[in-house]
Amino acid sequence: MSKVTVVGAGNVGATAANVMALREIADEVVMIDIKEGVSEGKAMDMMQTANLLDMNTRIKGVTNDYEATKDSDVVVITSGIPRKPGMTREELIGVNAGIVKQVTESVLAHSPNAVIVCVSNPMDTMTYLIHKVSGLPKNRIIGMGGALDSSRFKYYLSKALNANPNEVEGFVIGGHGDTTMIPLKRFATLRGVPVSTLLPAETLDKVAADTMVGGATLTKLLGTSAWYAPGAATAEVVEAVIHDQDAIIPCSALLEGEYGESDLCIGVPCVLGKGGIKKIIELDLTAEEKELFKKSAEAVHKTNAALPC
Ligand code: LAC
Repeated sequence: MSKVTVVGAGNVGATAANVMALREIADEVVMIDIKEGVSEGKAMDMMQTANLLDMNTRIKGVTNDYEATKDSDVVVITSGIPRKPGMTREELIGVNAGIVKQVTESVLAHSPNAVIVCVSNPMDTMTYLIHKVSGLPKNRIIGMGGALDSSRFKYYLSKALNANPNEVEGFVIGGHGDTTMIPLKRFATLRGVPVSTLLPAETLDKVAADTMVGGATLTKLLGTSAWYAPGAATAEVVEAVIHDQDAIIPCSALLEGEYGESDLCIGVPCVLGKGGIKKIIELDLTAEEKELFKKSAEAVHKTNAALPC
């Protein structure tokens, strides 16, 4: 029996739970929220699709009842306030740090062996905060941002290439911020063919720039931050852990010397499987990419310095 808890049944949390259930990533998914009735209602609504969609996962919704989350294999933390148009993810730190700290303590009291997947923004800093407050081994804490940013990169690449997004490969490293993420154009391919041989440099630069503000673009359109891709990216990360896939997914991980950085969580390619982050893959970056990574790390360190604890 595999069990996943999703803390926060807002748009992202509920979408993540729904995707996990539809793909039968876990046997049981528990959604927990502070708002009376929201988790219960969304869980009931999703369960009423079970017969329609041939879904076997059981979804349960609770209000503040951490006992129901007991012995989860993976806990996803989406709690906190989302961005409004014009806001950066970093502006959320004051409010979200307190919430994420409290949630971390509550989930670990009931699932001391869980792998934690952090979704709350500013994501790299919240992942770092979870390390600080939990003291868990570093492999058990995964920040989801790189999975989402990479998916957006592949979307914009597929549009520029006029190709099916499923045939595009590529990934984003660095911080999950509008100016800190680094879409690695050099490693992107269409069916194994480097995209640099298929697209002019200016087009690739535009793809990278669009990717970096991908979340902000949606926040402007929607009036709040996005949820379909964030939810699906979260489910992808959880699936790699629950099914011990050894999948290479860029995630925010605690660095201890990798890429010349330490004492921060930032997006790097990770091997994800049972127990969380099995390995950080160290790419041989060019001088230019190294410089971008250094700048990105500096910005993440700066945001971490604003943590109230
Ligand atoms: C985004 C938010 C979830 O990138 O960070 O859409």
